[in-house]
Amino acid sequence: MSYLGIDLGTSGLRALLVGDDGQPVGAAESHYHARNPHPGWSEQDPADWITAFRDAVGQLRDRHPEFSDLRGIAVAGHMHGATVLGADDQVLRPCILWNDTRSHVQAASLDAQPEFRALTGNIVFPGFTAPKLDWMAAQEPELRAKVAHVLLPAAYLNLWLTGDHVGDLSDASGTSWLDTAARDWSDDLLGRTGLDRTEMPRLVEGSEPAGQLRAELAAEWGLRNPVTVAGGAGDNAAAACGIGAMTEGAGFVSLGTSGVLLMARDGYRPAPETALHSFCHAVPDTWYQMGVMLSATDCLNWLARITGATPADLTAGLGDLRAPGPVRFLPYLSGERTPHNDPRIRGSFTGLALATDRDDMTRAVLEGVAFGLRDSLEALRATGARPDSLMAIGGGARSRYWLQVIATALDVTLDLPAGGEFGAALGAARLAMVASGAGDVAQVMTPPQITDRVAPDPALRGAFDDAYQGFRAAYPAILTAQR
Ligand code: XUL
Repeated sequence: MSYLGIDLGTSGLRALLVGDDGQPVGAAESHYHARNPHPGWSEQDPADWITAFRDAVGQLRDRHPEFSDLRGIAVAGHMHGATVLGADDQVLRPCILWNDTRSHVQAASLDAQPEFRALTGNIVFPGFTAPKLDWMAAQEPELRAKVAHVLLPAAYLNLWLTGDHVGDLSDASGTSWLDTAARDWSDDLLGRTGLDRTEMPRLVEGSEPAGQLRAELAAEWGLRNPVTVAGGAGDNAAAACGIGAMTEGAGFVSLGTSGVLLMARDGYRPAPETALHSFCHAVPDTWYQMGVMLSATDCLNWLARITGATPADLTAGLGDLRAPGPVRFLPYLSGERTPHNDPRIRGSFTGLALATDRDDMTRAVLEGVAFGLRDSLEALRATGARPDSLMAIGGGARSRYWLQVIATALDVTLDLPAGGEFGAALGAARLAMVASGAGDVAQVMTPPQITDRVAPDPALRGAFDDAYQGFRAAYPAILTAQR
């Protein structure tokens, strides 16, 4: 028997096939882009996700006979996106993504209503779903009037897979419409943006069945048995399932398009004033907290693009870890969530001199992202979290230098999982296993074997601390200069 985990990412879709033992059998990827038609906008056409899904499944079918014995599927998606459908289930406009900040005015006005923070446990960030619907009401009233269903990206794929409007609680946590303690939609909050539950997907836990794979798709893919589709998850909750971060203190640093520092908690402990996110986990009775920075690998990709290099070129020549130099980089290329909740702030280099070279600027970018993660760690520490070590996942974790910078800036040891398959796709495959009865949460969501550890460099701790204080002080100064 086999199980399929899908990671619907910002730059592409990754499909991972695992066997009965939960070990990877094979993986496939298919890429697409986000479009930025105006500054601060970020959109994707949901049809591109389906094309990528079909392409990745085609690759797996060609390469792995085990695919025909598929029993379960789960989708982990980039969170918060507004996929709006008419009464005929047709997509009305491109999905407005998590890193789109156009609705900051609407977000601020919802956030000023105390019910939102009280019931969701979170700030209404501009990237969250509810303000996007209010933005549509203000800017696209004719389209807004046609909206009959609002789905998150993963729930849109659930609709395609099962024919049913169904989503999971971990993803629903990022909408600003969920009563996070009660694990249900809030009729009050939906009503405040002109919606009601008939327009929202039915909610299930990520590890529960959401439905069965449609017969047309089963036939198209040559599948012999009924296939259960699990509720699925937001990508960060799924990644936590992939590394077995289910109990207090276990967590990860993820270096993807966004930068995330996540820890599972032993209960629901909202702390919206810290700009942390407090969300339902993808399994019952469990919650987690995370700090989110909007641009992590995006910062290095940006420097690579404008210098005509690849990200790997930029980091290849950095040598041994060094104390931060005089150049500081503020990584706010798309605004920032934790800790500033500031959609309008933009990035900045300071301390440039005639002698500054590309390596200095690369180091400053890697350090700036690490200091942004340190901001999230300080917010988590303020709520009582005490991590000794964190798992490092995501594409950016391939750079040893970056891992050393982060370990030293955070004063936390980073663990590297064996085999590298520990992202949201593995977590999704594990949700598919639980939903289709292959095991329970405790049996399936186990921590991976650790093959390598990156410890903080004690000789450089002080220098990184000093540079972090400079980074903290730079935000108010840059804010004044940019407004
Ligand atoms: C989490 C967030 C991002 C996206 C994209 O709140 O916005 O991590 O899920 O991966």
